[in-house]
Amino acid sequence: MNHPDTVIELSGVEHSYGNGTKALLGVDLTVRRGEFVAIIGRNGSGKTTLAKHFNGLLRPTNPGGTVRLHTRGGPIVDTRGTRLHHLAATVGYVFQNPDRQIFHDTCREELEYGPRNLGADPATLAREVSETLELVGLQGREETNPIHLSRGERQRLAIASTLVMGCDVAVIDEPTTGQDRAESRRILDSLAHHHALGRTVVIISHDMALVAEYATRVIAMRKGRVLTDGSPAEVFSQREVLQETNIRPPQAAVLAAELGLPGVLTVDDAVREMGGALTGARPGATSLPHDDKVC
Ligand SMILES: Nc1ncnc2c1ncn2[C@@H]1O[C@H](COP(=O)(O)OP(=O)(O)OP(=O)(O)O)[C@@H](O)[C@H]1O
Ligand SMILES: [Mg+2]
Repeated sequence: MNHPDTVIELSGVEHSYGNGTKALLGVDLTVRRGEFVAIIGRNGSGKTTLAKHFNGLLRPTNPGGTVRLHTRGGPIVDTRGTRLHHLAATVGYVFQNPDRQIFHDTCREELEYGPRNLGADPATLAREVSETLELVGLQGREETNPIHLSRGERQRLAIASTLVMGCDVAVIDEPTTGQDRAESRRILDSLAHHHALGRTVVIISHDMALVAEYATRVIAMRKGRVLTDGSPAEVFSQREVLQETNIRPPQAAVLAAELGLPGVLTVDDAVREMGGALTGARPGATSLPHDDKVC
């Protein structure tokens, strides 16, 4: 497909690991510029394997499977025939464990490393480092040693070190796992700010409340295949389909559907729909739980 907004195109992608595990059984999908995609699915359904195909960290193991990246203003490249560092300029990947990709003694050095290798001049570099630290809420922490950051701050630093590369697409594997509610929101807000700048964001998440709130598109995986793919409203309304993968829609959406309020996905939607009735108990409070980490 040569749609101008296409950035990643997968066709017939299968992936088998060396031990014979068939992790992807034939995936066709297109990611378009400007989307905020959430990949969901139970443990072992193939989410990480799929996402690692987006920038060539893994390649299809079947001869007929292809992954093509539409580089901005450049050629369409097949990941199989292209070196990893060329692919990384279009799609950046943040691993689930941020400590896997933090190596330097200061936040500044951590962020400078990638762009400097691409030849960024010192003035541009300094500006981009401070802008990106601000984007992820770590402004003024340039000289801090990452070992003195909290786990959530290190996650945001790892995300920043990918965002600072200016890739079209940032793929973040489980950005909020192990984080408390406030930190999860800070992380997702950072990604939302980046998305608002016109970038494409792909996250893998088990947190349906955050997915409903932040994503523009949800891809549900089951046993190496795409089970369903659409807007959060479309995907979370398919409760019976989702049951096949043990995913429960956000509790706010379930409750609202029971109350005859289709299309409500988040607590904020519910409060709006109900004309603020839910906030009556105490100012600023909602009576629906925000914590919906289910699969
Ligand atoms: N390096 C590997 N070698 C062999 N099998 C693997 C490897 N990585 C993943 N698998 C297997 O491939 C399948 C898909 O794994 P994958 O990590 O893609 O799932 P996931 O949806 O990301 O799961 P989780 O939610 O636990 O992160 C699983 O059966 C898993 O055990
Ligand atoms: Mg995974």
